[in-house]
Amino acid sequence: MTEELRGTARKMVERGKGLLAADESTGSAGKRLAAVGVASTLETRRQYRDLFLSARGVDAYLSGVILFDETMRQRADDGTPFPERLARQGILPGIKVDQGRVPLPDHPGETATQGLGGLEQRLAEYRALGARFCKWRAAFPIAEHLPSPEAIFANTEALAQYAQICHAQGLVPIVEPEVLMDGDHDLATAERVTGLVLRALFDALDGYGVDLSAVILKTSMAVSGSLDARPAGPEEVGEATARLLRDHVPPDTAGVVFLSGGEPPVRETEFLNAVARRGPFPWPVTFSFARALQGPTLEIWRGRAENVEAARAVFLRRLELDALASLGLYEGE
Ligand code: 13P
Repeated sequence: MTEELRGTARKMVERGKGLLAADESTGSAGKRLAAVGVASTLETRRQYRDLFLSARGVDAYLSGVILFDETMRQRADDGTPFPERLARQGILPGIKVDQGRVPLPDHPGETATQGLGGLEQRLAEYRALGARFCKWRAAFPIAEHLPSPEAIFANTEALAQYAQICHAQGLVPIVEPEVLMDGDHDLATAERVTGLVLRALFDALDGYGVDLSAVILKTSMAVSGSLDARPAGPEEVGEATARLLRDHVPPDTAGVVFLSGGEPPVRETEFLNAVARRGPFPWPVTFSFARALQGPTLEIWRGRAENVEAARAVFLRRLELDALASLGLYEGE
């Protein structure tokens, strides 16, 4: 393991900063745009990315941004390629490298994340384009008898292989086993299932000899299902998530970042704060949100140039609050 990779991993979880996930596939980006009345084209998707990536002052709160292939090759309004624009501000450019999910054969409702074929070559190109880290996401629904042992095995095995390939190509892997919050399961179930998945993931990483000092875990918090009749509040979520991580994340892991999973932005900030207040942990913890950071900004922007500054102000404020929450210092809006 090179010192450069360890240094990149440390910088990704620098104290008081976090990661912006801006790596929606073309399909997901289209959904985000449609929700605010904007048609999805190559140019509107570029404007959508520029809204966030060219906002002044984000370097105070962002250590890195996860990009999608299309954005990696596009330019900001000022003509600078997006990865270069980020790097100039000291923000690490990263790239989503999985190629989405396909149904897992004989396992209705479950998926396997694909993208290992040709991964070495793609990573070499991304590194040349400026990427310093990667992301691969697997997703696990909770339901009766789900996730199955086969889904956990297939997906954690692929995550470990991906991580090994990233290291060989000089990139830091973010391993993201998302346990979905859809459903009526309670907090204890979410904690138990996420624990099973994390145990399998770290076993697989160990099996492939992956050096955790240059690996970032991106995980769900332990949260109640979206249809749970008694959704847990920040204190319960903070307690369960802190326990979950302490029980399952090896101390030599470089850092832990959270996805937002569809929770409302303010709620997510409260949850992050509640987890951080239960530190210190053996690894830094911070955010790597997509929807919880982007949602309020997109609502104001709605594709109009005259709204860009007001929308960016809201983005900056959300970032500031999430950065405070990552330190356990958030005191409300
Ligand atoms: P959300 O924060 O919207 O859950 O997305 C994070 C992410 O990167 C999912 O892969």
